[in-house]
Amino acid sequence: MNTDRILEEIKSKIDIVDFISNYVELKKSGQNYKGLCPFHSEKTPSFMVSQPKQIFHCFGCGVGGDVFSFLMKHDNLSFNEAKKYIAKKAGIKITDLNPDKRVSEKREKLLTIQSEALNFFRENFKSSVSAQAYLKKRGISIESIDSFQIGYATAERDALFKHLKEKGYSDSLIKDAGLAIFDGKSYRDTFRGRIIFPIFNLHTDVIAFGGRVMDNSMPKYINSPETEIFIKGDTLFAINLSKDEIRKKGYAFIVEGYLDAIVCHQYSFKNTVAPLGTALTSRHLQRLRLLTKMVILVFDGDEAGISAARRSLAILCESDLRARVLLLPKGEDPDSYLIKNGSQPFKTLLTDAVPIIEFLLNTSKGDKIDTVREVLGIIATVKDLILADRMLGELAERARINESVLRSELKKIKKKVGPHASEEPKLARTKINREEFLLLSAIIAFPEKADNVLSRLSIEDLNDKTVKSIFNKIKISSDILNIGSFLNKATDDEKALITELSLKPGFDLELVDRNIDDCFQRLAQKRFEERGRQAEESGNIAVLDSLLKEKRKFIKRANL
Ligand code: UTP
Ligand code: MN
Repeated sequence: MNTDRILEEIKSKIDIVDFISNYVELKKSGQNYKGLCPFHSEKTPSFMVSQPKQIFHCFGCGVGGDVFSFLMKHDNLSFNEAKKYIAKKAGIKITDLNPDKRVSEKREKLLTIQSEALNFFRENFKSSVSAQAYLKKRGISIESIDSFQIGYATAERDALFKHLKEKGYSDSLIKDAGLAIFDGKSYRDTFRGRIIFPIFNLHTDVIAFGGRVMDNSMPKYINSPETEIFIKGDTLFAINLSKDEIRKKGYAFIVEGYLDAIVCHQYSFKNTVAPLGTALTSRHLQRLRLLTKMVILVFDGDEAGISAARRSLAILCESDLRARVLLLPKGEDPDSYLIKNGSQPFKTLLTDAVPIIEFLLNTSKGDKIDTVREVLGIIATVKDLILADRMLGELAERARINESVLRSELKKIKKKVGPHASEEPKLARTKINREEFLLLSAIIAFPEKADNVLSRLSIEDLNDKTVKSIFNKIKISSDILNIGSFLNKATDDEKALITELSLKPGFDLELVDRNIDDCFQRLAQKRFEERGRQAEESGNIAVLDSLLKEKRKFIKRANL
């Protein structure tokens, strides 16, 4: 089957509204669906999805495309990866992956070898009495072991390495995947004598592992090194198992460790994720923000926990997330607390989870004025002005400082910080070369007009780069007759423009022929004026004279 046919078949089985609804809350609005754009920060929805056309476009930041473009952008995937995921969803097998894409091939290989390693660790676990006993002692249920796919690496020097070699994997791939280390003479396994916690991406592909010793030896945990498919500061443990629940509950718990996350899930808090032994980063939150705008940080109530929470709150604010902090009794983490007390007391604690401002003020060690300045500094980073305003009001109330005083202090701080890069709507560009856009828009809405428009248009004279490249592509093949297949071959800019015009044609569809004629007339006029200007500048009387004659004819024709 050729690529086009495969793509068409996949698209015919996947509805873009259903698909995008997994990531964005969509509401019906007229013929289309509308929601908050997952690709830029906004408060009023400008992200549109069209069911009949099977496309999306954001009128705020200008991105657009089909279901493949959406997933590529959303999960930062190559085209082939996106195609594979969506095909899988549609129940279609794809075997002919594009062989030139070396990067995505490497990623594919890494995914395959990690999943082979996972199988191996799982098998080991099933036959290891000590590993099973350890988890039992820790209170981890069989269901948790299954859903988190917990495994075991035996203490042998190179059991996994040998196994992978037998399966035909190369030394270099095993090493690049972080599964074995070359010590100068031979390879030895990275994980030995450890309980294995596989780390999955959003789509439940295993991308790395964390391994815990079963005694008090050090280091307690080791993690896979970063690879093309695993970036620590991007990855949240348990995101694959929690994403639906986070959307459903409307918030996420963020805990610190592997076992914290596992035990939270076991005690029915299935909206829990954990970073991997690193502080929260804005990239973690970018991912999470697509699922929810609200998080609850759960930390140990000791000093280390408090200062970790304070650092995380600053990052959360920068990412425009609302947050609360739940401090556990000193010395407890969610895992130990839940195993000891069960879920009910945890729920009770939850009702006392403290909002950001209150937490920052209550836990500050500095003097009050410094603390207020620190909090103002954090509020200054909040891009969502409504949220920032609410926080400022809360700060005024809790710190008992006049709100207008705080407001002017905030202004000063913001001046120092500088304005945030504003996201210019791209719509403005369509005004300058309006006719060019309208002509393109006309044939997108009425593909049968393409021949007529193309026969009258001189593509070389078009000013807008994107309009020009699209018209050139249409000239070569009449694929524009089908937006779906045109999008398969389009660049990002072209996709953005085509989807924009598909959803907002910019002219009255009933008057399409008039629109086309008007456009050509105005284009001719513009070109004429341009030549006149040039002639005037160069003082060429002869040219000016002939232009004048042409103009008379032109006006006559236009008046017909
Ligand atoms: P903790 O030391 O708090 O461990 O590390 P824990 O999660 O409570 O684990 P248990 O209950 O003692 O078994 C928190 C997280 O920090 C990372 C791991 O992700 C761990 O879950 N970490 C910790 C490391 O990556 N390496 C280490 O050596 C220790
Ligand atoms: Mn613990």
